[in-house]
Amino acid sequence: MTEALVKIETRGRVGLLTLNRPKVLNALNNQVVDELAEALRAFDADDGIGAIVITGNEKAFAAGADIAAMKDWSYADVYSQDYLGHNWESLRRIRKPIIAAVSGYALGGGCELAMQCDFIIAADNARFGQPEINLGIIPGFGGTQRLPRAVGKAKAMDMVLTARMIKADEAERAGLVARVVPAEKLLDEALEAARVIASKSLISVMMAKECINRAYEMPLNEGMLAERRNFHALFSTEDQKEGMAAFIEKREPDFKHR
Ligand code: CAA
Repeated sequence: MTEALVKIETRGRVGLLTLNRPKVLNALNNQVVDELAEALRAFDADDGIGAIVITGNEKAFAAGADIAAMKDWSYADVYSQDYLGHNWESLRRIRKPIIAAVSGYALGGGCELAMQCDFIIAADNARFGQPEINLGIIPGFGGTQRLPRAVGKAKAMDMVLTARMIKADEAERAGLVARVVPAEKLLDEALEAARVIASKSLISVMMAKECINRAYEMPLNEGMLAERRNFHALFSTEDQKEGMAAFIEKREPDFKHR
């Protein structure tokens, strides 16, 4: 049996996925990505899970797609398998929130994987970069699309064209990461953020995620309308009644959709 490359755990209502190919700095091959996709789909379908954390190890979240696996592939090979499509894109279809907890290198496909998550919590030793240009290729998993949306055109061009890595504090200033925390506290902070999310009403959490993601795909007018309709829809839920009643009664809400 092949060794699992993604460790799957649960911590209460939080699903925790740990990339586990330390010898190659968690380089992403199809096996890693297939395991990740399968675990994510299982957590998404599991009523006991309200949020998910993806992490790596202290030295690397992931140092990119597996160069050793790719190096001899032809155009026909990558085209016919639709390399970087299929399971690589599966995070986009997960409806529960996913936090990337990034320590060490998040390069190439590793940076792109982190950007596919809903937000990134970075350790103070994290390094983000898109070094594909050094390999005679370009980012292929969202680096030319999600990175400019996150950090703006100037910094995205700088990072993609020069392969310059940025440190956690620069990534936070640029808007790529939500928070920077001391490396030794990374997992605890990420799990706590996920625990907080998982304690809310899942239906409103999923709708909020869906609406924010639409902001990247729709004109403002349509996005505003979609948001308003979802806002209206939440008034049909028990959790809206409970959340507002709890506020008025000065107590913690007891949400049903968790
Ligand atoms: N693919 C395959 N193996 C990798 C790898 C990768 N992306 N990154 C690191 N490794 C391997 C190394 O080959 C090395 O293996 P050996 O011990 O067998 O020699 C091991 O991991 C440790 O790496 P280093 O010895 O290089 O460690 P370092 O501390 O000296 O350097 C590093 C760390 C700067 C991250 C360096 O490993 C590096 O530059 N890695 C490649 C980064 C990269 O180019 N990523 C982009 C890949 S292409 C891509 O991702 C396309 C896309 O858009 C999806």
